[in-house]
Amino acid sequence: PIVTYVCPEGELEQVEVPVGTSIMKAAVSHGIESIVGDCGGSASCATCHVYVESHLDKLPPKSDNEEEMLGDAASEVLPNSRLGCQVVMSDDLASLVVRVAPEQW
Ligand code: FES
Repeated sequence: PIVTYVCPEGELEQVEVPVGTSIMKAAVSHGIESIVGDCGGSASCATCHVYVESHLDKLPPKSDNEEEMLGDAASEVLPNSRLGCQVVMSDDLASLVVRVAPEQW
């Protein structure tokens, strides 16, 4: 499945994200530098903050831990804010669009 990342400067990156891979991991391994992923994906840094712009009804709900970590995010937290490491690709999320939060630190 393809994910479109809208980066803070406005450029679009389209990345093939295998089912089972988080959108943070896929972004980092494709060199999308606006996603940091400092903790490596354990939901303990909030440097993978994205705004999910499609498929919101298909996403599993946030865990309490994710909710809590988003409280430490550097950019404004909106109702569609998620930690990218906690959004794992599934067949339901094909053609997902996410906007990368402007500040990750
Ligand atoms: Fe650290 Fe997502 S990579 S919270």
